[in-house]
Amino acid sequence: MQASLDQKYNFEIIKWFTVSAVIYLVVGTAVGVLIASQLAWPVLNFDIAELTFGRLRPLHTNAVIFAFGGMSLMATSYYSVQRTCGVRIWSDKLAWFVFWGWTAIIVSAVITLPLGITQSKEYAELEWPIDIAIAVVWVAYTLNFVMTLATRKTKHIYVSNWFFLSMMVMITLLHVVNSLAVPVDMFNSYSVFSGVQDAMIQWWWGHNAVGFYLTAGFLGIMYYFVPKQAGRPVFSYRLSVIHFWALTFGYVWLGAHHLQYTALPDWTGSVGAAISLAMIIPSWGGAINGMMTLSGAWDKLRTDYVLRFLIVSLAFYAMSTFEGPVMSAKTVNALSHYTDWTIGHVHSGALGWVAMVAAGAIYHLVMKLWNTKMYSESLINAHFWLATIGTVVYIIAMWVSGIMQGLMWRDYDQFGTLTYTFAESVAAMHPYYAMRAVGGLIYWTGGVLMLYNVIMTIRMATSEKSVSSAATATA
Ligand code: HEM
Ligand code: HEM
Repeated sequence: MQASLDQKYNFEIIKWFTVSAVIYLVVGTAVGVLIASQLAWPVLNFDIAELTFGRLRPLHTNAVIFAFGGMSLMATSYYSVQRTCGVRIWSDKLAWFVFWGWTAIIVSAVITLPLGITQSKEYAELEWPIDIAIAVVWVAYTLNFVMTLATRKTKHIYVSNWFFLSMMVMITLLHVVNSLAVPVDMFNSYSVFSGVQDAMIQWWWGHNAVGFYLTAGFLGIMYYFVPKQAGRPVFSYRLSVIHFWALTFGYVWLGAHHLQYTALPDWTGSVGAAISLAMIIPSWGGAINGMMTLSGAWDKLRTDYVLRFLIVSLAFYAMSTFEGPVMSAKTVNALSHYTDWTIGHVHSGALGWVAMVAAGAIYHLVMKLWNTKMYSESLINAHFWLATIGTVVYIIAMWVSGIMQGLMWRDYDQFGTLTYTFAESVAAMHPYYAMRAVGGLIYWTGGVLMLYNVIMTIRMATSEKSVSSAATATA
């Protein structure tokens, strides 16, 4: 059975994407723990330019979003499109090109960012030659996916593929437009946009990197892997289609909520906030749809640790998609913007939703690809608890410090002067920064356990396979 699946589908490439994703999770979160510790204990900057917070922060975001997130999305989308369409990936060669191309881009980020080579646009720091490479590899990734859909044996295109496809199309558009720049030399360029237009284009990209890459893409993962792991059809297919269209049409209008109270016309921020609030409906519809897939079989959560990752990720998804719209309201944003509250919101989405749903899908994939059980169930359980506790510690620390920062910065005394100096607010943050570093360390430990478990599972499966083929040969 497995041998015929191995022949029919290209599982080999998925294995490479999957293992890379786990490695990048550990590396990316290790850099996260280091920069979190640098904020608490500045001595950890070591007075070495390449290791300072300013250089390592974009390395962290690129590693977790594009290296870990990218490899997870590529593994899961290429796997599920083959399974739901009943055909092999359209081109094996193109799939390998995508793997090695993306790896080369990650390596160039690891070299250029610590050297301070950057376009200084958040989540779009990499310089123009790397931007061109990203566009080429991403289009190749998309083409291979679309052609696999085109050659499918099934009549229907399953909903997870719609989510993946919207991510691929939108990220191509957003990345190309936001990266338009005039090169000066190999390592310097100027954006073709200027002033407030540049800011608007940047946050049109920035928010949709969240909306399409970290949300639509990972919802694609949810819609395939939750029903598969639960062994039940998705709760409401009709709701999933409404979820898809509402999300796709809604998200593109939100970017302006990152630029409240700036030179951008006031009405754009209001439109951004209004549509952000409306986004609660499709987001919660999707989260409930995923969770209710377990309706009538909740007992599975007691024994299936992989399912726990998937379902708890949906709880964090619901939480961050409630918090985000609240933060987009102008009055709340006046308090939250520039503070750690934003960082707390980011990580409730990133650690709780993105990395948890990916972890659940990766465990499922490892078992399917190597046709075996995981080496240790209790290690999955330990990972689950470390990830959940780590996330909660992280976000509580940031909520407290963020709201405290916001309140300290706007506090006036009876003479109309600021009550606190900025330095006083920095000093007040110290315990929370230390707490966040501890939360991060807990989360990272879970990732290390996952890496160990995956390596041991692969070793176990490979040795079982060689024993059984030796037995067949002797017989
Ligand atoms: C052990 C886990 C992690 C730790 C300790 C950590 C720590 C940090 C720190 C200290 C910052 C800088 C905050 C600041 O500038 O004040 C940051 C930023 C960020 N991290 Fe993480 N991180 C972790 C995991 C992740 C993961 C898994 C993701 C994504 C999937 C992620 C996405 C981001 C993003 C998008 C930002 C930029 C936020 C902004 O500019 O508002 N992080 N992280
Ligand atoms: C309906 C859903 C959501 C809405 C309306 C929303 C809204 C917001 C708002 C208002 C901000 C702060 C903007 C500012 O003051 O500068 C923000 C920041 C952010 N959100 Fe969300 N959010 C949503 C869901 C999510 C999810 C699921 C994630 C997943 C990881 C996420 C990741 C981020 C990131 C990375 C930032 C920081 C951007 C930056 O300043 O670098 N958001 N979001």
